[in-house]
Amino acid sequence: QLADESVGMEELLISPLRLEPHTSLPLPPVLFGSHAGARANSTGLDLTVPAMRDPLLAAYAAVQVPQVPEFDVKNIPDAYADCASSYQKWSKTGVTERAAILRRAADALQAQTPHFCALLVKEAFKTWGDAVAEVREAVDFLRYYADEAERIMAPIAMPGPTGESNELRLIARGVWVCISPWNFPLAIFAGQVAAALATGNTVLAKPAEQTPGVALEAVRLLHAAGVPADALQLLHGAGDTVGAALVAQPGVAGVVFTGSTQVAKIIHRALAAKDGPIVPLIAETGGINAMVVDSTALPEQVSDAVVQSAFRSAGQRCSALRLLCLHEQIADPVIAMIRGAAQELVAGDPADLATDVGPVIDREAFDGIQKHLLRLNSESKRLLAPAGIAQAATNSIANLIPPQAFEVPSIAAMQQEIFGPVLHIVRWSGDPLAVIEQINALGYGLTIGIQTRIDSRAQALARASHVGNVYINRNQIGAVVGVQPFGGEGLSGTGPKAGGPHYLARFCAEQTITVNT
Ligand code: NAD
Ligand code: ALA
Repeated sequence: QLADESVGMEELLISPLRLEPHTSLPLPPVLFGSHAGARANSTGLDLTVPAMRDPLLAAYAAVQVPQVPEFDVKNIPDAYADCASSYQKWSKTGVTERAAILRRAADALQAQTPHFCALLVKEAFKTWGDAVAEVREAVDFLRYYADEAERIMAPIAMPGPTGESNELRLIARGVWVCISPWNFPLAIFAGQVAAALATGNTVLAKPAEQTPGVALEAVRLLHAAGVPADALQLLHGAGDTVGAALVAQPGVAGVVFTGSTQVAKIIHRALAAKDGPIVPLIAETGGINAMVVDSTALPEQVSDAVVQSAFRSAGQRCSALRLLCLHEQIADPVIAMIRGAAQELVAGDPADLATDVGPVIDREAFDGIQKHLLRLNSESKRLLAPAGIAQAATNSIANLIPPQAFEVPSIAAMQQEIFGPVLHIVRWSGDPLAVIEQINALGYGLTIGIQTRIDSRAQALARASHVGNVYINRNQIGAVVGVQPFGGEGLSGTGPKAGGPHYLARFCAEQTITVNT
């Protein structure tokens, strides 16, 4: 059915995959790279089918990334005052109406899938497969949080003694500052904003400085769907100026941040130093994500999961695999398979449908990864040389880093998140729980992959892992809204999990009302 040319592109991309009441079905098995037998992509959709390919390419030819002027920090107090005044009205708008507006925005976004995909390819250098998956995720966030707001904002009658009634309800807090990263410039941006708006808060949104165009178009779409202009304002600019000034703005009721651990800590400290009320922070940050593979694991499954988890999206996912821990008995054949599979990947221009791995986001990211590679080249054993990359592409596509892998001396040698297509491999023997302990000791806690055919071991390792998302015998990326609530602990974030049933409550205060009857 996915290859049926008589079905419209927009229906193919999202509607048939939607699991009622609110979310997509888990993505179909990923076809990534020509080793999978098809020139396909992260969604499992074959984008060479004309009904899908043509609207995407037409949108790409037509799209212009909007120029977004930098917001003047001097005007932040005025923006806040307008947003606070809009809160008075928006918070009193019924949750049913707020949810209806978000659902309208979801429908509009779904209808404009090719346009938003084209924007993501042009501004954020997403491959087409990743762009389609991201639009789908953004649509899911809008619908899921609309449903969730209606569910959780209904007052709950509490049991109590006769002669009084007790009710617990959630209420909006006020103006939230939403600060988002460039690696999911649509889905994470829309998810944060939708969560705050659905619960009756208003929003000052600061997108990543690399991707303001996608954010501007998302804001326009939400305004057109019925969100009042002052209730959602876009303030584009640098993190250490506009971002920092927003965090410091008196009166802000909460901050939701997705980005690096370092910046989360800066924001945490800035909020703690403020006079006035204690301001809640939701921080979703990075990870040094591992996969632990024992000697019973299926090599083909491991190889496929590793290639997807480490190299898809050029490794620019917070969930991506950074550290592969292979049992020494199977390390050599598994490494050989990974090498074979990774060398089939095509690194190149993201606008080309055949590309599996596009460039990293900018020169700064490129330079940082190159510096790390230089160090690895001198200190570690290279297992996967850059491959699958045409010389022409390296010359003409800026910031392209082909997938590569190195054997490193120890788990403890992993001290920082490297946000690119670079895999680090260690060998282990003995007790797998000791491996998990070493991974836990790194202090991050976002995703882990476990590959074993022994069920009891998989469960024991999962329980011992201090992480937010455990993936057993599959890849460890691409959490689906409402299906795999996503987020970490420790250096990886504060929780609650995005796309999960506890997320929206953190945007609210709780009130208990007791009436003497
Ligand atoms: P970043 O921390 O550099 O920037 C994130 C946002 O914070 C940007 O909008 C930036 O302008 C802003 N910012 C920077 N300094 C600030 C300051 N002093 N005050 C206020 N705001 C400031 O991160 P990035 O490079 O955009 O994104 C990549 C990082 O995000 C990676 O570490 C990745 O793991 C993480 N990430 C985490 C998740 C998750 O859900 N856990 C999802 C995506 C990305
Ligand atoms: N939510 C994204 C993933 O799971 C980051 O890959």
